[in-house]
Amino acid sequence: MKHPVFAANWKMNHAPADAEAFLRVFLAYYPKTQDRTVIFFPPALTLGAVHNALKDRTDIKVGVQNVHWEDHGAFTGENSAAIARGAGAKYALVGHSERRHVFGETDEQAGKKVAAAIRAGLTPVVCVGETLAQREAGETIAVVARQLRAGLAHADAAHVATCIVAYEPVWAIGTGKTATPSNASQVHLAIRHELRTLAADRSEAVPILYGGSVNKGNAEALLAAPEVGGLLVGGASLDAEGWSGIVRT
Ligand code: 13P
Repeated sequence: MKHPVFAANWKMNHAPADAEAFLRVFLAYYPKTQDRTVIFFPPALTLGAVHNALKDRTDIKVGVQNVHWEDHGAFTGENSAAIARGAGAKYALVGHSERRHVFGETDEQAGKKVAAAIRAGLTPVVCVGETLAQREAGETIAVVARQLRAGLAHADAAHVATCIVAYEPVWAIGTGKTATPSNASQVHLAIRHELRTLAADRSEAVPILYGGSVNKGNAEALLAAPEVGGLLVGGASLDAEGWSGIVRT
């Protein structure tokens, strides 16, 4: 039996008041349940409001979209994993494709951020995924494996076992083009293989999420695919009623 993870990446959307209004609707549609995990990744400045609105809903978790790799210091505009933890985060996205492609984040930085998240007691959600050019050049598995190894470079097997991995093909993010369930599964199987080399049997517990133009229409088929342990959703997580439909898939 799968225990799926449904993660909403709000990206740069929803101010605190919008998030509170969203959650009033969402919570009415989504009664407490123990058979799945729901995680919200709001913008950092909205995180506290989301955490507060969810204080009676321990079944729903909050995460931060990005952390700095240092624990504290002179890094204007940045947030450390410990600050995110103090604001209520339990999870941290690391290496999201927008961080890599819009902000120039490297594999090495992703590795240091995963280590920082672990130090602060956050569960890292390590994001990997190939561009269209890499897919067309037949490099998908090599790219994803390289990103995964770099992302987990400073995590020992025990920590690898507590991480989440998200496969988000860059060409599928925000484009309306979704990987087919079998395409997604193929890459997820390769990720599972790679995880076994890093953490042997313990790696079996690591959920591997799919992300990229997930919506109500394709969520069920993607979730049913082998090795798809959950969904990381951008655009379709911004509407409370629509998102409540997806998390009840
Ligand atoms: P979309 O669901 O909008 O394609 O975004 C996916 C994503 O980047 C989630 O992290």
